[in-house]
Amino acid sequence: MSRVINFGAGPSALPESVLEEAAKGLLNFNGTGIGIAEISHRSKEFTAFMAEVEGLIRSQLDVPETHSILLTQGGGSAQFSAVVLNLLARHRLLYPDLPDEERPLDYVVTGSFSKKAVDEARRLGGGRVNVVVDSRASSEDGNSFDSIPAHDAYAFSGPDPALIYYCENETINGVQYSNDASSPASFPFHLLPKNTLVPLVGDYSSSFMSRPIPRLADHAVIFAGAQKNIGPAGLTILIVRKDCLVDVDAAAKLGAASVPLTMAYKTLADNSSLYNTPAVLPLYISGLVLRRSQELGGVNYYEEVNKRKADKVYSAVKEGEAKGVFRLKVKEGSGSLMSVVFDVVGEGAEAKFVSGAEAAGMKGIKGHRSVGGIRVSLYNAITEEQTDVLVAYMKDFFAQ
Ligand SMILES: Cc1ncc(COP(=O)(O)O)c(C=O)c1O
Repeated sequence: MSRVINFGAGPSALPESVLEEAAKGLLNFNGTGIGIAEISHRSKEFTAFMAEVEGLIRSQLDVPETHSILLTQGGGSAQFSAVVLNLLARHRLLYPDLPDEERPLDYVVTGSFSKKAVDEARRLGGGRVNVVVDSRASSEDGNSFDSIPAHDAYAFSGPDPALIYYCENETINGVQYSNDASSPASFPFHLLPKNTLVPLVGDYSSSFMSRPIPRLADHAVIFAGAQKNIGPAGLTILIVRKDCLVDVDAAAKLGAASVPLTMAYKTLADNSSLYNTPAVLPLYISGLVLRRSQELGGVNYYEEVNKRKADKVYSAVKEGEAKGVFRLKVKEGSGSLMSVVFDVVGEGAEAKFVSGAEAAGMKGIKGHRSVGGIRVSLYNAITEEQTDVLVAYMKDFFAQ
């Protein structure tokens, strides 16, 4: 059976050339005579490959030596918990005597995933959750995540929070921060506390490696699951500033919550991400994707291509909107380059749009079950030509 164009939100499309190479590695990894899913994670061939993966991330994102790159499991969801536990431990070591109410956890809530993250922080306790801004407050209907908030809407807690959290691309709601500092939809880095190592956490799950990360060095933790832009599910990538690799047991002695060892950033760093068995196969495929992206020109290459792809889809949505066929679900300026969300207007029109797309060889365009509508994911592996096929279909659809 031939392959279709997969616009799914994750797990999502991977480059075919990588899949073909990975198939060979499944039988024989790097000339070892052992398949990649069978080889010891402590073999010299695999540890060398892991070091290469780390190096590929470091060089393509320009990660400075102040930050460690850690490779783990558990997905973005495990990080919703891990960032709270590790950064509360750090805060405890810095300020042992403060009561929990004076350990602010600042959350910027712009969509379903940052909402899940703040809910987890509340569930874990140990600090005081402060919602810096919730973009639903300024939405069209008062209840949707349809924009990146204006800078003057952010209310940070003060000079020394335990963490400041945001999600760079909200995969379900289709809103993304602009990486142009002069845009009103940029993250307000200039409003962050000064004269301190800011405990800034960015969830980059659905935009990692799709373009350069603004102010990367100013982040305490950046995390991302691999399953959007760079590989299969099962690998989680962390970029952690070294002052956040704290002794969680020393913090627990001072009253912080105990942290499971597999979630403690210091455990991962002290063991070169090999404290326990890593996700060997996802790591392998991700490494092949990263090698390929390095050859193509890295994040700068992808930024250009991804912009062109998104521009084409957004202009088709707008054209359809003018004809009363489509309706964009996010406000101008906040639309994601990775996740384009829109409605097809009219009784039964959405089902017709989806089934027509499937008949034309395109799958994965149904919106998340919590919000409905259409969602087109334009991750790195989706080519410009494949995007053109979708755009032509959209134009045919509204011309009917
Ligand atoms: C932005 C974002 N954060 C977090 C998650 C959760 O990741 P996981 O399913 O790997 O736990 C996702 C998953 O789609 C996501 O898109």
